[in-house]
Amino acid sequence: MRILLYRADGNTAPWIKDFADFMPEAEVVVWREGADLPPCDYAVLWTPPQAMLADLARVKAIFLTGAGADAIMKYSHAIPPHIPIVRLNDAGMGIQMAEYVTHSVLRYFRRLDEYEAQARAGAWLQLEARDKADFPIGVMGVGALGSHVIEALKPFGFPLRAWSRSPKSLTGVESFHGSEGLDGFLGSSRVVVCMLPLTEETVHILNRTNMMKMPQGSYIVNVGRGAHISEPDLLPLIKAGHIAGATLDVFRSEPLPAQHPFWQEPRITITPHISALTLRRESVGQMVGKMRQHARGEEVADVINRTKGY
Ligand code: GLV
Repeated sequence: MRILLYRADGNTAPWIKDFADFMPEAEVVVWREGADLPPCDYAVLWTPPQAMLADLARVKAIFLTGAGADAIMKYSHAIPPHIPIVRLNDAGMGIQMAEYVTHSVLRYFRRLDEYEAQARAGAWLQLEARDKADFPIGVMGVGALGSHVIEALKPFGFPLRAWSRSPKSLTGVESFHGSEGLDGFLGSSRVVVCMLPLTEETVHILNRTNMMKMPQGSYIVNVGRGAHISEPDLLPLIKAGHIAGATLDVFRSEPLPAQHPFWQEPRITITPHISALTLRRESVGQMVGKMRQHARGEEVADVINRTKGY
């Protein structure tokens, strides 16, 4: 068994060590442009460089070290359809997303962002308590991670909404779906949490027109992809007060460029794509389990649907 490994950060040593622990019989080959590679069974990567595509077209399956598949799906045409592209399923990300989103929602609901600003100005001032009935939380995308977030929010008693591509029924959640359900969802969500996969259908889903459908003074938490939001549309809506604040973990261009105007806007909270980090050992353990299944000729879960794009 030979595994072709690519890491954009070049930090391959700990991955090689974990593969040695979980799959001692495997040889890990680190991909390098122009290198003469032996034939490999499986590839492990997240954001492949274009120069890797010819090598990817020769493996038996591709395993992504992330939950989102957009970085490889843009090259889908170059990867023969019989090669399964397998994403991570949770692997410790669900709980991280739940922590991040719950924290952001509670920070807005309990006005902690305002108290942070007041404290910097040396002001001791009690603001009016908010009513949960005025604070419905809407989660866009209810796959493995979105469902985890919804379950984590339940004990707090917020009205919950969900929006998905196809109909989904979730206990205690008002569900909306498809383009026909989008206006009702946006219009009734005080906080919109974006957890969607990035596809042709979801790119710029939070554009000016759609953000205007959210109630005055609402909030956005984006843990999906930067391109879900039309970035130039967000800033004027924040300045106008229509959007009261945004917590953004993902950006059109990452790292967020130094001159990007988001850095200067205090109502935008910026984190560097950390809402759900890939936990290496959990991920390697999961991938190795799936590789063994594939090698035995068994069906492997979490294969990307090439038509849907996720
Ligand atoms: C992170 O963004 C992931 O898709 O795993």
